Amino acid sequence: MLAIATALPTSAQEAQVAPPSSTREGVYTEEQAERGKEIMRDICAECHMDDEFMGTFIKSWAGASVGDLFEEVSTKMPEDRPGSMRPREYAQVLAYIFQLNGLPAGEVPMSSSIEELREIIIEGSQG
Ligand code: HEC
Repeated sequence: MLAIATALPTSAQEAQVAPPSSTREGVYTEEQAERGKEIMRDICAECHMDDEFMGTFIKSWAGASVGDLFEEVSTKMPEDRPGSMRPREYAQVLAYIFQLNGLPAGEVPMSSSIEELREIIIEGSQG
């Protein structure tokens, strides 16, 4: 009984609360962003600076879905080894990019399923 109870929270929460439809609604957790920061530093920083993914970057993706961005990054990056990371690591990097842009963290971790992520539209933190 206890084992079942601990297995339930995520799905129970999903059943009660409609899944978020915008990056303004808390679509990742702090833990994911923390891990994403490490991945950015260890892998992406070889070629990218954090600020490349802020401001105009997120604006250029506004209106597209998180699934679109996930697909783009997971099939093309890291440029020297495309697709070499695990799906959940790509989700962690995206969480960090959202955090860099002032988008809020939430309680439910971001999925690494492109289909599920297509339901979430990218919006900047304001306007
Ligand atoms: C070996 C160098 C290299 C590494 C490592 C690398 N990238 Fe890139 N990245 C590039 C280059 C070059 C481009 C521009 C050409 C292109 O779009 O394919 C690019 C483009 C991008 C873009 C599109 C930028 C835009 O303005 O649309 C994103 C997003 C991105 N990289 C994310 C990442 C992430 C996240 C990582 C780490 C997981 C990463 N990259 C690792 C070289 C790299």
